[in-house]
Amino acid sequence: MRIAAVSDLHILPDGSDELLLTRVRERVEELDPDVFVIAGDISDRLDVLSNTLAQLYTEGCINLFVAGNHDIWFEDGGGPSSLEKYSKVIGEVCMKNGFSHLPDAPVTSESYAFVGSIGWYDYSFRRADLDIPLKNYEQKEYRGAIWYDLLRLDWGFNDVEVTELCNKKIEYDLNSLSEDCKHVIFVSHHLPFSELTVYKNRLPWDFYSAFMGAASTGRIITEDGRVLLSLSGHSHIRSMISKDNLTAITVPLGYGRPDPKQLNAFVRDIVAVIDLDGSDAQVHDFVSGDLSAGLPIYHHERDSTH
Ligand SMILES: [Fe+2]
Ligand SMILES: [Fe+2]
Repeated sequence: MRIAAVSDLHILPDGSDELLLTRVRERVEELDPDVFVIAGDISDRLDVLSNTLAQLYTEGCINLFVAGNHDIWFEDGGGPSSLEKYSKVIGEVCMKNGFSHLPDAPVTSESYAFVGSIGWYDYSFRRADLDIPLKNYEQKEYRGAIWYDLLRLDWGFNDVEVTELCNKKIEYDLNSLSEDCKHVIFVSHHLPFSELTVYKNRLPWDFYSAFMGAASTGRIITEDGRVLLSLSGHSHIRSMISKDNLTAITVPLGYGRPDPKQLNAFVRDIVAVIDLDGSDAQVHDFVSGDLSAGLPIYHHERDSTH
């Protein structure tokens, strides 16, 4: 079973990422995976999300998407709420373009099951030694630094409640798998393990780290015992860790865009390749770190370089 995975493409709405998307699809085709996974953060605009999925759809494999926080940001001037986007509209957009929105239902192939969730954050990744009051995390603001979900999300639940809802659905999906599913691949946008987060001993970076994920989600997937691989995005710094028999990686691109001459090499770096053989997971030539570092950034609205 071969998996190709990428996340956080943050596609520009003006069409300037056309060549990037073509190269990513060509690279995925070249890798010839059984499953192609995109772990969120394509665009807050549904038309851009739809066009991007159409361009990335790869024939001959299972195409999977998990929404990221940017994908469920509400659009300027109205449109569906974050909850509507996550629970209904994005699934429809995926289906229209040959993708499955994994949080809607697990997808199985041979003895492997893919279980997915946006995942959320409950501030369990916060650095307690910073002594920042909990209220600041709840309000997503500290000394003028704002976590942008504050302005663009309308779940209708607080963050701890959203995390619990996501966790309940993950447990439900895991419990509903057939006995034929021996191994599970977990895909989330937010991180299930704080070890995947980079702390830099400076603010506001380490304040933003609280919005990276939830330790409770990681506990669910490690305790299940069948999860051998976890794929995530959200942090724009690529990372790989091992937890007992589980390999966890983040596969983001981020906001940076390379010189067109460097595009092929860049795309080879961003699309991760994992080969599964029974319970063994081999991650090939994994490139870690911030691949956008030092590159031009064309986005106006950012959630920092996390
Ligand atoms: Fe992102
Ligand atoms: Fe994100």
